[in-house]
Amino acid sequence: MKVIHTIKDLQTELSSLRAQGKKVGLVPTMGALHSGHGSLVKRSVSENGVTVVSIFVNPTQFNDKNDLAKYPRTVEADCVLLENCGAAFAFVPSVEEMYPQPDNRQFSYAPLDTVMEGAFRPGHFNGVCQIVSKLFDAVQPDRAYFGEKDFQQLAIIREMVRQMKYNIEIVGCSIVREEDGLALSSRNKRLSDVERENALNISRILFKSRNFAASHTVSETQQMVESAIADAPGLRLEYFEIVDGDTLQEISDWEETSYVVGCITAFCGEVRLIDNIKYKF
Ligand code: PAJ
Repeated sequence: MKVIHTIKDLQTELSSLRAQGKKVGLVPTMGALHSGHGSLVKRSVSENGVTVVSIFVNPTQFNDKNDLAKYPRTVEADCVLLENCGAAFAFVPSVEEMYPQPDNRQFSYAPLDTVMEGAFRPGHFNGVCQIVSKLFDAVQPDRAYFGEKDFQQLAIIREMVRQMKYNIEIVGCSIVREEDGLALSSRNKRLSDVERENALNISRILFKSRNFAASHTVSETQQMVESAIADAPGLRLEYFEIVDGDTLQEISDWEETSYVVGCITAFCGEVRLIDNIKYKF
């Protein structure tokens, strides 16, 4: 696997591989890689002749500067994981390479980007769209891989691709969990042992709510999750919403739509964790 730092070098490498008829898969990441990222990379490797994994902690998507400063950076270990997954290139640009000048573009995909994460992290999805569009322009992949863990991000990227007419297939990949159910996240590294125990209740409650939902209304399920999180030690709920999986708008009746997802964000100590569960799909 080659580690590449500039767009120009990456494009030189890719153009000769493309000339040999190879399809290019892109997996955008912010590093601190774990097997959740690894599952996206392996999927791309199985579906494309060349896989590029970008590692870039994108400053424009952090509305909390403290969160940006504390974001784990483990590029050497990341490259070992990527090599083992079969990636051809790790693209590790500097901030100057990706933002030679400030990016003033505004991406707005309301109402997809105004609810949930969009409501609590103003500017976050604008920053995500800025960097993902720059990566799409630089790499010009045939396919790009995103995790369903960031369910709203995936929906917004799909919409950006539709509106900007990118000729890229967006592939959504299932959430990878620890054996006990906790969704893998780079942020889990910041949890103390007690917080790690407490965090487990997020997925436990979501799984429980899926059984509960079979015999209860949407609003009863909503209340069950809210009160279970309130009763769980060390968790503070930011939001839990039961939404149409395509429009991300809240539903009030299970029969309203055929694709229903419950999206949650909760703080465990200082660490903000997100997860989701499919009720209907
Ligand atoms: P990051 O949080 O590093 O995640 C990179 C990709 O890995 C995302 O598509 C995310 O949904 C996926 N992912 C993370 N944890 C996962 C898990 N447990 N199971 C399955 N997929 C998982 O998301 C970002 O970076 C950034 O916003 C980015 C798109 C790179 C733009 O900066």
